[in-house]
Amino acid sequence: MELQPEGNTMRIGILGAGGMADALGTQWARHGHDLMIATRTNPAPLANRLGARTGDYAEAAAFAEVLLLAVPAAAALDVLTAANLPPGRTVIDCTNPVGPDWTLTTDGASLAEQLATTGAHVVKAFNLCHVDIWRMTPLAFAARPVLVPLCGDHPESLDQTGSLVRDLGCTPVVAGPLSRAALLEATAAFAIGLWMKGADAQAMLPPLG
Ligand SMILES: NC(=O)c1ccc[n+]([C@@H]2O[C@H](COP(=O)([O-])OP(=O)(O)OC[C@H]3O[C@@H](n4cnc5c(N)ncnc54)[C@H](OP(=O)(O)O)[C@@H]3O)[C@@H](O)[C@H]2O)c1
Repeated sequence: MELQPEGNTMRIGILGAGGMADALGTQWARHGHDLMIATRTNPAPLANRLGARTGDYAEAAAFAEVLLLAVPAAAALDVLTAANLPPGRTVIDCTNPVGPDWTLTTDGASLAEQLATTGAHVVKAFNLCHVDIWRMTPLAFAARPVLVPLCGDHPESLDQTGSLVRDLGCTPVVAGPLSRAALLEATAAFAIGLWMKGADAQAMLPPLG
């Protein structure tokens, strides 16, 4: 499936105001997107820094064309349920359901698929790199842009997410339907386990040729 070229500005709702909300929100604010930050406590400090609006979860869901879900995995389904999404809203899921022993906390379906039971059009993305990578400008290593795999079932949601990936200077690739999000979540758990042992996880996959 082809992704659309870099798109127009979007209304983006960000649920959460921690590191990932800050890193990706800063990049998208720089590209002129219209942002609303929603948190369980006070969204104002991050919103003020980004020039964004503030709201509660439901206000962000009503405002946004695209939502970024950037809360701990254990809270993700509750937060999305509280947002009371209009059906078919695009939700970018960057969460990593990874436990303290670097194994998955999910049992059966991926967290991304569980989130899709709310009626959201979920795209799993941005979960593989550390938050400090998402802050980088330019976001490239050895002059190669970072590849961002996307898993989702809905072409328009994949297009919107792909456009937001390109805003970071990264290359989106549709890696399959949402049923493959379990593999992305497992890949993150595996890589985090290696990093925590001090291994160079990137060196595990040298380029062919
Ligand atoms: N950090 C990384 O390198 C990284 C990379 C890729 C993906 N991720 C994933 O991205 C997600 C966000 O990570 P992060 O690094 O941004 O985390 P973070 O800095 O700890 O921020 C988490 C945000 O979620 C809120 N929150 C915490 N518990 C909550 C709850 N029970 N209900 C509602 N909101 C809650 C926090 O609000 P308060 O300030 O009020 O606690 C904060 O706004 C996680 O799922 C993580 O696995 C992280």
